[in-house]
Amino acid sequence: MALQEDVIRHLVDEARAARQFAHAPYSGFHVGAALLASDGTVTRGCNVEISAYSVTSCAERTALFAAVAAGKKEFAAIAVVADLDATPPCGVCRQALADFNPSMEIILVSDDGSYRVVSLAQLLPEPFLPEHLAKHAKSQ
Ligand code: THU
Repeated sequence: MALQEDVIRHLVDEARAARQFAHAPYSGFHVGAALLASDGTVTRGCNVEISAYSVTSCAERTALFAAVAAGKKEFAAIAVVADLDATPPCGVCRQALADFNPSMEIILVSDDGSYRVVSLAQLLPEPFLPEHLAKHAKSQ
């Protein structure tokens, strides 16, 4: 179902608010995300950089893990706001989001407030999904 303009605007505002808390002392690249669950709740996330760089969490996964930790499992959309132009989620975040909804809507927001909506199915075609593991388990 297409996202309503007012819902998108709300997600953009929430992602912007989340970006204020980005912890990016190494890259200086600040990212905020707002994840919409199917029950209507919105969870914010920001990137959190760690001195051992690979431990860093992107804004999208910070939001996803916080939402899951709060008991959410079904998601409809995520807005992502970075310092400059529309920033698409990295490959790791695409995989993490796809586990919960491979057709989730991704709202890519530019600094001037304009946005573009793409489906995660476009960004990550033919994803590896939990059902692949389930099929394997059944075949054992
Ligand atoms: N980053 C995100 O938070 N989300 C993205 O979609 C792309 C990259 C973060 C990770 C790191 O803290 C910084 O941006 C530079 O890669």
